[in-house]
Amino acid sequence: MAGQELIDNLNRALGLELAAVIQYMQHSFLVTGPEREVYRSFFRKQSGESHDHAETLGDKIVALGGVPTVEPGMIRQATDLAEMLRQDLALEREAMEAYMAAWESCKDTERPTRFMLEERIASEQIHIEELEKLTSERKANVTTEKITLRQVV
Ligand SMILES: [Fe+2]
Repeated sequence: MAGQELIDNLNRALGLELAAVIQYMQHSFLVTGPEREVYRSFFRKQSGESHDHAETLGDKIVALGGVPTVEPGMIRQATDLAEMLRQDLALEREAMEAYMAAWESCKDTERPTRFMLEERIASEQIHIEELEKLTSERKANVTTEKITLRQVV
């Protein structure tokens, strides 16, 4: 049986993924205005992805001898799109912390779980970066206004 600390950390990540399933779905319901055309399906896709993540976590927790949680983490809602995106970013960051903690609690005998977590952490980081761009927390560092192309002779 795997260490209890690892199972607890995986369960924390599972609770946050369950929260993400519901939060993204709720955001897809609540988004209104012209942005709805794009963000309704964006939020539903994110909800589906969180669902897939929750499934693999639950299966892994049982494989390691634990019992998956059925308690979602905190769910946030808003009617303003920018606020929704900030809420989703906050949730993704909490999930990242849980995944990192789970990674750190993997012993040498749990290397396959560590590899699974590394793949997950890499894909969650891309989500975080995209949400940071959507909330304009992250911007390209453009220092010049003009781009001069080399002349082809
Ligand atoms: Fe996820």
